[in-house]
Amino acid sequence: MTPHPLDPLTQEEITAAVLAIKSQGGLDESAWFETVSLEEPSKQELASGTTERRAYVCCYEPSSNRTFNGTVRLSDGALEGWSHVPGVQARIVPDEFAAVDEFVRRDPQFVAALEARGITDVDNVLVESWGAGHFGVAEEDSVRLAYCHCWLGNEAGDNPYARPIANLHPVVDLAKREIIRIDDFGAVPLPPDPGPMNRTEGLREDVKPLEITQPEGPSFEVDGYQVRWQNWHIHVGYDLRESLVLHQIGYEHDGKVRPIMHRASMAEMVVPYGDPRGGNYRRNAFDTGEYGLGQAVDSLALGCDCLGHIHYFDVFTHDWTGTPKLIKNAVCMHEEDYGILWKFQYARAGTSRVVRSRRLVISSLCTIGNYIYGFYYYFYQDGTIGVEVKATGIPFPSAIAPGDTSPYGSIVGEGIESHVHQHVFSFRFDMAVDGVKNAVREVNFEAAPASDENPYGAGITIKETALKNEQAAQRCLDMGRARYWKIINPQMHNAYGKNTAYKLSPGANSLPMLPPDSPTGRRGAFMYRHFWATQYAADEKYPAGMYPNQDAGTDGLAEWTKADRSLEGEDVVVWYTLNFHHLPRPEDYPVQPVVYADFHWMPDGFFDENPAMDVPPGKG
Ligand code: CO
Repeated sequence: MTPHPLDPLTQEEITAAVLAIKSQGGLDESAWFETVSLEEPSKQELASGTTERRAYVCCYEPSSNRTFNGTVRLSDGALEGWSHVPGVQARIVPDEFAAVDEFVRRDPQFVAALEARGITDVDNVLVESWGAGHFGVAEEDSVRLAYCHCWLGNEAGDNPYARPIANLHPVVDLAKREIIRIDDFGAVPLPPDPGPMNRTEGLREDVKPLEITQPEGPSFEVDGYQVRWQNWHIHVGYDLRESLVLHQIGYEHDGKVRPIMHRASMAEMVVPYGDPRGGNYRRNAFDTGEYGLGQAVDSLALGCDCLGHIHYFDVFTHDWTGTPKLIKNAVCMHEEDYGILWKFQYARAGTSRVVRSRRLVISSLCTIGNYIYGFYYYFYQDGTIGVEVKATGIPFPSAIAPGDTSPYGSIVGEGIESHVHQHVFSFRFDMAVDGVKNAVREVNFEAAPASDENPYGAGITIKETALKNEQAAQRCLDMGRARYWKIINPQMHNAYGKNTAYKLSPGANSLPMLPPDSPTGRRGAFMYRHFWATQYAADEKYPAGMYPNQDAGTDGLAEWTKADRSLEGEDVVVWYTLNFHHLPRPEDYPVQPVVYADFHWMPDGFFDENPAMDVPPGKG
């Protein structure tokens, strides 16, 4: 079967791309594969109907400490633009992460440091190689570096993070696979073993079965990765770096599919931690660009991760040798009852109608070290798109001596401190509201000045401002003005003469605490604005740049937008920053109940009336 041009790479395609690089890429035996993922065809190619299947490939060659990238044309294996990318570091891939854990634990210098802390059970130690960031240390620039954090697992063997070995940080040259030095800021007593994570004793016995049945099957239709549901048309995709990607999102109305977005993804994230002491200032995880969320995607289990009538999409990832790896059930899709959609009753006439809301959920979960992130897209019958992050797993545990307190964290368990941090997500939306050419508007509300018309101060006026270029379109939330942003189609009008539009309706959010000119502030410059809009450019995919690993902050949104390109009647890309500020509680330990952070895209004059008037009422 010929794949749709936006389908993820197949097993055969990954294998073919790897072979092409191995035979023509000019790399030596030490080289490994960071990324083999779909190189998406352009909108123009898609519109023309003549697309080539291409793989984007990135390799790292340890012997020369060089990173290469380019594409492979899959029809004939031709390499296009394959070259060394100077001055960058590839992501730290899962195999490299695992290799560091292995070799550091065998290193006599590290074993001695453990023994000095009374730890002899080396097999039960976990060494995690975190991206080292860029802190202006000259000798680090030329080295492929990891800054490690260490834990001793519990006796039950089901929690490798149970007993933090605080203040012990092997600094590793990943290319040479050797320890450069061990940063030791002094031993902190090991916390007691918290016991098993997977408890079997004392479980609740009053949770009765809850079954979701759809006797006539689901209301969606699936053809490969193409989905139709309740007027929605969506192409489900996957990327090795971003994980779940949605393409060609449109809503069918009066017999025609009206486009809304060409592409939606969570394009980058950073988690700056707020403890500056010892080696902890190094903890600033850019989980997408430094590690790759797609490579960390979970295989989901029915009845556990997902409940109801589920359609799963499988995807192929790969290991660092380039061998394809099937991830069964990587993306989950199902319908959910979501309470009431709308209700109206008229007592005098004795009429009433209640319409229940149904939503389509498309999601994936990614396990990255101690944390698990879920990315959820919700499609509603009224044209609303919900975007939600779920976070669970273990909030980064560190050790604290009994009786000590900390200004940077809270005590969440016996001898366990967890620090203030923020999970900052950058969602990228390649917009296509009723077509490719869009424009950006900001809406604010203000009290009207007192006047003869407004003697009691009741007046609230609407201020709509065109954000006509990229410098103007770098905005933060303003609760006092109930601010939001709209993407309009300047050519298309609704029945009331207004441009058809979708609005970005923010939810809870926060701002970064660290200064913009700090090392992590520079690398994560996207954090400082909730809303950015850019003119589409094919190579502007990730808001902290293509290679954030060890980067000083030389690439990304803040750099690109210096060009101040026009956004008026252009191909507009919106970047929304969702910042979840987090001080862990004792209730978040030993494992954190899911926390949610979300926002919505809502039609705003896209339709002439509530598009869900035709949803049949609930059966009472
Ligand atoms: Co957190």
